[in-house]
Amino acid sequence: MAIHIDKTTGLIRLTTKNTEYQMKIDDHGVLQHIWYGGFVNTDMSYLTKYGDVGFSGNPYDVGDDRSYSLDTLPLEYACAGTGDYRIPAVCVTHADGSRVLDLRYEDCRVYAGKYSIPGLPAVYAEEDEAQTLEITLKDIASEVRAVLRYGVMETEDVITRNVKICSGSGAVMLNRAASLCLDLPDGDWDWIHFHGRHMCERMPERRRLLHGIQESSSMRGTTSHQQNCSVILCSPDCTEERGRCIGACLVYSGSFQTQLEYDQLEQTRLIMGLHPELFAWRLETHSEFETPEVILSCSEKGLAQLSHNFHRVIREHICRGNYQYAERPVLINSWEAVYFDFDTDKIVKIARDAAELGVDMLVLDDGWFGERDDDCSGLGDWFVNEKKLPGGLGGLAESIKALGMKFGLWLEPEMVSENSDLYRAHPDWAIRIPGRRPTRGRCQLLLDLSRREVQDYLFDAISKILSSADISYIKWDMNRSICDWYSEELEPAGQRELPHRYVLGLYSLLERLTREFPDVLWEGCSGGGGRFDAGMLYYCPQIWCSDDTDAYERSKIQYGTSFFYPISAVGSHVSTVPNHQTGRVTSLKTRGITAMAGSFGYELNPDALTAWEKEEIREQIRRFKNDRQLIHNGNYYRLTDPMTQNASFWSFVSEDLSEVLVQGMIFRTEPNRKQAALRLAGLDENAVYVNKETGETWSGSALMRGGILLPRPWGDYFGVEIHLEKEGNA
Ligand code: GLA
Repeated sequence: MAIHIDKTTGLIRLTTKNTEYQMKIDDHGVLQHIWYGGFVNTDMSYLTKYGDVGFSGNPYDVGDDRSYSLDTLPLEYACAGTGDYRIPAVCVTHADGSRVLDLRYEDCRVYAGKYSIPGLPAVYAEEDEAQTLEITLKDIASEVRAVLRYGVMETEDVITRNVKICSGSGAVMLNRAASLCLDLPDGDWDWIHFHGRHMCERMPERRRLLHGIQESSSMRGTTSHQQNCSVILCSPDCTEERGRCIGACLVYSGSFQTQLEYDQLEQTRLIMGLHPELFAWRLETHSEFETPEVILSCSEKGLAQLSHNFHRVIREHICRGNYQYAERPVLINSWEAVYFDFDTDKIVKIARDAAELGVDMLVLDDGWFGERDDDCSGLGDWFVNEKKLPGGLGGLAESIKALGMKFGLWLEPEMVSENSDLYRAHPDWAIRIPGRRPTRGRCQLLLDLSRREVQDYLFDAISKILSSADISYIKWDMNRSICDWYSEELEPAGQRELPHRYVLGLYSLLERLTREFPDVLWEGCSGGGGRFDAGMLYYCPQIWCSDDTDAYERSKIQYGTSFFYPISAVGSHVSTVPNHQTGRVTSLKTRGITAMAGSFGYELNPDALTAWEKEEIREQIRRFKNDRQLIHNGNYYRLTDPMTQNASFWSFVSEDLSEVLVQGMIFRTEPNRKQAALRLAGLDENAVYVNKETGETWSGSALMRGGILLPRPWGDYFGVEIHLEKEGNA
């Protein structure tokens, strides 16, 4: 049993393999949050004793007890307007214009299995893999209810949360509905968030919590390159291997807000969910609103364990479909090879050369449809450009299949170019405000995906493409941020629903397509990793990680990505040098090593390769295929911090600890340095490990405590790859 309810004391405990989460219904029916961490086997409410804190008011029903205040207590789902002046989780406007909600415990129920959320991606599990707890809170003066749902994944050390807000016999406007409110009794935390920009996503930044509110959010309509919808709170002494940390990851692909408040009593509140600036929802009488889900995990063994928990739950309980576990094909993508400048012959030539190297699939990127010779036209016209590809996609796919390869295709379905037949036929399908000139992004506008007819058009257009040729893969791109929010279909009072309705429309379309075409491998993309989130991973088991393919930069981007997202989800390619984004030259070996730490492929023109480079690529592909299982399903360890150190190293360790792959690079080479030792992690300390190439042996303990000696580097961005195998016991 993972859910324990003591009706006499009001204590509710959720337990997972290593953690315990406690709530308590107090004498006033307020649901307090009293613990999240390792096992304590004690009712932790003894920690929440307060005095009379001035200017922190007291609910009417507590009488003259001035020590009881919603402004100080740790709350499970904090409301606005009732004297808790910290960030609220939920806020409604009632019919009379008042904005107060005072939610108190009503009832709860427990059932086997994991709840699902209609229309939204969420962790899924078999009946015997999870338990669900639903706690209903009700406003003391209206019929508004909040149903707090908890999915307890015992083995994964994960708890998921989502909230359903229900109106009663009166309509209300929902102004804010967070997915997560987590109050922690202390404030001694660092927080790690992931910021960035296009071509530089998910840069981890670790800061001490400061008094007041700190935030990481996106108002771009997507989860964005600029901030990721994931956050870690960790003790100041927390490292990869030691210390307490809590991670939260929103399963959503639109605008979001993560806020942390370090309050007057030096307690911490974490709020995560839809961005309230771009949200309001009309709840008609007797209707419901479901928030997106948050995945929570806690580790007392440092950040590596926390990442393993997230990797496992996302890989095994978010990703779906035929490619969830199937070996991902090694692909070659045409974008950096030829950009818009191609015809059938050029593409077939790339495929033929790549097939000889051992590549499994050719992906035709942007430019194959409509009048699309640059990025200013054609989006929306999903018909093959016969001038470039006479014989259409069917003919091309057959030529590629004849080489023993699969064929994949790029699409950017959510967009429309003004210079397109689609826009000329349906200008009202674009998101724009009548009477205002819209903001363009990469010269393009967005389609209003909240509209069913737009979804249907895209479903039909994409179905036709997929039925017209043997297509094994789709890269689903999305190349701008969203603004000018307005839908012709919504009334003025409902316009603030559009940002969320857009995401619901996108999910509905993806659900239909992935069901209809289960054999297709779907890869997400948004100018690289501008929508890298667990929401998209529910439909696409891999996402193009960044438009920056420079190995040095990529090693940092992939480092940041690895805190939450599994390695199999990371689309990663070897490109040419000088690199097209930075002009940097790195060795083919280093580029191969970096790209292999993901779902691997190439993005270059093989025609330009020397015979020696071709031989090296053949060998890379052979090695990747050999190690693919270990890379995608093994435990991943970050061995250095590339943001502050002169090297980027990581490793994969098989579940039974018998196989180890260490990869990485030394950034800057300096003469006359002592040969560096790299401390490994996650090994069996009592075992002997042998270097498969040199035959040298060490104990696991020596490799973890003393480290493995790295070769003396020659040249910058010096790539290193070491295979170790368990040979026996030390
Ligand atoms: C985005 C993608 C690239 C490529 C281009 C094509 O930037 O991230 O990989 O597909 O679009 O226009």
